[in-house]
Amino acid sequence: MSLPAAPRINPSILSADFVNMQADLARIATADFAHVDVMDNHFVPNLTFGPQMVERIQATSPIPLDVHLMIDDPDRWAPGYAELGAASVTFHLEAASDPVALARRLRDIGSRAGVAIKPGTAGDALYDILDEFDQVLVMTVEPGFGGQGFIPETMPKLSALVAEARRRGSNAWFQVDGGISDATIAQAAAAGADTFVAGSAVYGADSIEAAIAGLRERARAGNLES
Ligand code: DX5
Ligand code: ZN
Repeated sequence: MSLPAAPRINPSILSADFVNMQADLARIATADFAHVDVMDNHFVPNLTFGPQMVERIQATSPIPLDVHLMIDDPDRWAPGYAELGAASVTFHLEAASDPVALARRLRDIGSRAGVAIKPGTAGDALYDILDEFDQVLVMTVEPGFGGQGFIPETMPKLSALVAEARRRGSNAWFQVDGGISDATIAQAAAAGADTFVAGSAVYGADSIEAAIAGLRERARAGNLES
């Protein structure tokens, strides 16, 4: 599979209509990946869906899946999402017992391996294992819900992680998720993000296609300013 170039825009289907998922997936066909938020009511205080639903989303989506697991015990559950064909599977560092072994397993199955950290988790915990990952997700809200405000204090951590990754020769993608909109995307791009999740800013727009194009444009401009 040829991989989409940066800046990548990944709409979060957490803001889609869950009973019209096929139609709402078709509406984001011009985006890069469909961002799929799996929540278990334990790691985060919200519940979405599990592998059975994601398997149908995988069969239905016009674009590849970027699965974001906000669940306990990803060591046990994450490989199943790679096996059902998700292009990318991201688990939380805070929840994993053996992040390196899990990343290797995901890559062996054929998926990109991603690791996520919450706003309060330091980035340096990842420095020595950056090589094991294809994507690092720096959460820009507390995980659990769409429609929250972007936390700008996460930006220095993102910049430091990107610098450390490049210093070590890693070409991992850097993703931001939470509160990404026309008003915030440029500062995340300037801090080094190249992959942008947006839920309410995409699904809440009058024209989804225009919203995706607008976010891409502003991310490009933010990257040039940095
Ligand atoms: C939040 C999820 C996000 C969420 C983002 O825990 O991980 O993917 O859908 O929604 P917005 O873009 O509305 O902040
Ligand atoms: Zn997410």
